[in-house]
Amino acid sequence: MAYYYKEPSRTFSEFLLVPNLTTKDCHPGNVSLKTPIVKFKRGEQPSVSLNIPFSSAVMQAVSDHNMAVALARCGGISFIFGSQPVEEQAAMVRKVKGHKAGFVVSRSNLTPDHTLRDVLDLKQRTGHSTAAVTDDGTPTGKLLGIVTSRDYRTSRDPLDKPVRDFMTPFSSLIYGKSGITLSEANDLIWEHKLNCLPIVNERQHLDYLVFRKDYDAHKENPYELLDANKSYIVGAGINTKDYEERVPALVAAGVDVLVIDSSDGYTEYQRETLQYVKSNFGVPIGAGNVVDREGFLYLVESGADFVKVGIGGGSICITREQKGIGRGQASALIEVVEARDEYYAETGIYIPICSDGGIVHDYHITLALAMGADFVMMGRYFARFDESPTRKLKVGNNFVKEFWGEGSNRARNWQRYDTGGKQTLLFEEGVDSYVPYAGGLQENLDKTIGKIKSTMCNCGALTIEELQRKARITLVSATSIVEGGAHDVILKESSLSGE
Ligand code: IMP
Repeated sequence: MAYYYKEPSRTFSEFLLVPNLTTKDCHPGNVSLKTPIVKFKRGEQPSVSLNIPFSSAVMQAVSDHNMAVALARCGGISFIFGSQPVEEQAAMVRKVKGHKAGFVVSRSNLTPDHTLRDVLDLKQRTGHSTAAVTDDGTPTGKLLGIVTSRDYRTSRDPLDKPVRDFMTPFSSLIYGKSGITLSEANDLIWEHKLNCLPIVNERQHLDYLVFRKDYDAHKENPYELLDANKSYIVGAGINTKDYEERVPALVAAGVDVLVIDSSDGYTEYQRETLQYVKSNFGVPIGAGNVVDREGFLYLVESGADFVKVGIGGGSICITREQKGIGRGQASALIEVVEARDEYYAETGIYIPICSDGGIVHDYHITLALAMGADFVMMGRYFARFDESPTRKLKVGNNFVKEFWGEGSNRARNWQRYDTGGKQTLLFEEGVDSYVPYAGGLQENLDKTIGKIKSTMCNCGALTIEELQRKARITLVSATSIVEGGAHDVILKESSLSGE
């Protein structure tokens, strides 16, 4: 006879936190959101931690190199989508790793033979008004000059004017030498009143550009997630089919953390993939997704450094409708966390848990953490921002961003699914949709983090670990949910009902 769970499958909106005593030292300015992302032994430190418990989903519509840089700048991690050719994914990882805090790999492709028209095209595409000119047009070619918007007048100069005739030539440039520190570069920028300082090697080849505005931004981002070389930390998604080709390329590109991206991770395919990565590389790797204790233990025993929880709760996900598998996100998380805590008590090895998908309101993040997740993964949340790689469109009077599931026909990410050897899936597990455009990542994150820290103080917790230990969580009845929002009043502004 089939096994029946005694409890219904529950989700975040069915729970609330009950406050504890808030002591005077417990204010948002004192709260730390630092959290482990890979397993570690009791008394030791994890090799990789996040400064905020946020990761962006392994999705085409969410996590490219731009999102990865923007999120790492704020203290979180992106997992670059794996549903693209190996070389393209590795190139994205390389771009993030090349983006040392304050040191930027040039994105221009100008040679002296290009024209003003090309300069304007480039400016339109990249949004940057400063571009490097190299002998071969590559970002690491021999530096011949720099073009800024002060070098031409679009009203007077012909569009076919060659770059060589208006660029500032190398002989007139102030530049830094490879190996220079960020603060030395900044000194040169200030001394010479520059906006941009090129860094070149002994053969005059371009390494990086340092922009005054990036240096300032670096100073403003105390939570930046950096490796020992001051490069941003970045993750990447892999699948269980082409890992022997994909993983070496990602590791060579400098990836910091891998994750196996799949809607159902309780499989022998994941075990084989984990074993391959563990026996050939030192890079940490997470696995999933699972929704119960058995799935969790299977992946941990197969070598997973963290485990991702969640099936069917994603905003664009129709797995439950299509296949009838899944579990309410809260129920799944609670059971997996219990298994993780028992495992820790028995072995002294702590396995971080990622709650993946189904975050609708900011407080769901706090609930996930309180229930024992160490970090969350979100797709819809990040897809709404300028930094996501999709188009921003106007629908009626509103701006929206495109957002599609990895299991949709649009993504064609069939490697994520067990297709029994077939190249395509007979049905979709995700939809193609829009999400309301919400502006820039940093301003939205600041607001969300503000709410999380404030709730943690209500619960008397200064760290995530303390929140997990102290949290008191109550189920809410369907009737009491009504009194949770504004009710029995006539709202003046509809914005009050937003997140
Ligand atoms: P969201 O934060 O609710 O948008 O959920 C994002 C999560 O949904 C991802 O991290 C994946 O685990 C999952 N996901 C992404 N694409 C699909 C899909 O097409 N079908 C089902 N789940 C998906």
